[in-house]
Amino acid sequence: MADRHAQLSFDGNEYDLPIVEPTIGNAGLTIAKLRADSGDVTYDPGFANTAGAQSTITYIDGAAGILQHRGYAIEDLAANATFLEVAYLLLVGKLPNKAEFEAWSEDVRMHTLLNEEMKRFFDAFPKRAHPMAILSSATNAISTFYEDYHDPSNAKAFDESAVRLLAKMPTIAAWAYKKSIGMPYSYPNNDLDYVENFLAMMFSLPTARYEVDPVIAKAVNVLFVLHADHEQNCSTATVRGVGSSQANLFASVGAGIDALWGPLHGGANQRVIEMLQSIVDDPDASAKSMIARAKDPNDPFRLMGFGHRVYKNYDPRARVLRSYADDVLAAVGIKDPLFDIAKELEQTALEDDYFVERKLFPNVDFYSGLIFRALDFPTRMFTVLFAMGRLPGWMAQWKEMTEDPSTRIMRPRQIYIGDIDKEYVPIEER
Ligand code: ACO
Repeated sequence: MADRHAQLSFDGNEYDLPIVEPTIGNAGLTIAKLRADSGDVTYDPGFANTAGAQSTITYIDGAAGILQHRGYAIEDLAANATFLEVAYLLLVGKLPNKAEFEAWSEDVRMHTLLNEEMKRFFDAFPKRAHPMAILSSATNAISTFYEDYHDPSNAKAFDESAVRLLAKMPTIAAWAYKKSIGMPYSYPNNDLDYVENFLAMMFSLPTARYEVDPVIAKAVNVLFVLHADHEQNCSTATVRGVGSSQANLFASVGAGIDALWGPLHGGANQRVIEMLQSIVDDPDASAKSMIARAKDPNDPFRLMGFGHRVYKNYDPRARVLRSYADDVLAAVGIKDPLFDIAKELEQTALEDDYFVERKLFPNVDFYSGLIFRALDFPTRMFTVLFAMGRLPGWMAQWKEMTEDPSTRIMRPRQIYIGDIDKEYVPIEER
């Protein structure tokens, strides 16, 4: 196919915009030289219509509700793959064969311990510290033990840092939780697999034997797989943006964790449960009253777990989780009133013109929290669980960005609308 170009004309001038062609999905009009040629920039708040990268990792068709990693459908991966296999797929670009997988997962298994000095770091936080603050701080802090691995152009350093981060994240997450409940930190047990090890560190005590329930381990595996990557979302764009300054992988991931914490992004999973609980706790609240608040233009309240920048159809991850939530709740023998309220809320919203017109559907956060809750995770750990799942995606995107010769430091332009040429007035004269 001949190279396609778009023409842009304004102020009597014509500008040629070469088109970057995709394998599938939207093409991209290259505007990189527009400012040099015309003196003007494009304006796109939230970069909702701007591609910051060409990527081979994840494909989303938001209108059709399709999500694929390296060409594999999320439904297929969630049903059949382990989280570590998906992490390998994202990082390396292909599914591992048996020997590759065994060698790699053994490598991850061997790096689960934190440097003992990190204990003092956890001790220093107040008991009420949100585990997301501890997670991002600890991710930055472990960079101080690996300063020889900070050069982004060193591929071997990346591979080893990625294994270390993947291996240590469950230990950090579990210790953040133990800190919050005033219980002793549990050390990793390398006889267990990735998810089992995490569960044992979360829930075991020195005083009692802890057996990992295979139903819970499987559910956590599915949840991690469903969160593993999601192309250029807010936290991934943050990881890429920080990494574009050649900051090290640990620092870039730490920044991604902070971006994920926000309630409009990964923090929504905690907010969904708080919203559902508020309906149970308040006799005057109901699914209908929540919907009415969400629709009220004078009320900043939004229906948490609903709507998505990219999906204008049911989020395929939410679809998997909705039916999976039924199975998990039944398997662990829990009848959760919040699940019934969630289904009622979803039904009411999906029949409401406001939500229909704006194409607002449940996103991944709407049902994930209900499953985490059934598995006994405290609400404040939900976004940490999301971060653990998203880690391979962040690292794969960081690697892709670092290896891409067209990468430049992320530095958007602005349109200045403030005052100019004012004269300084001494403080006593103001
Ligand atoms: N409740 C009520 N109204 C909503 C909601 C919601 N959850 N989401 C969007 N809308 C409305 C907006 O008010 C807007 O209405 P308007 O056209 O009358 O002004 C319209 O739908 C479009 O919304 P935008 O804010 O422009 O959409 P955007 O793509 O910028 O935001 C977002 C997407 C942040 C996810 C938004 O839908 C939201 O706030 N949802 C609730 C928080 C949430 O669940 N976040 C998790 C997202 S998934 C993830 O990050 C893992």
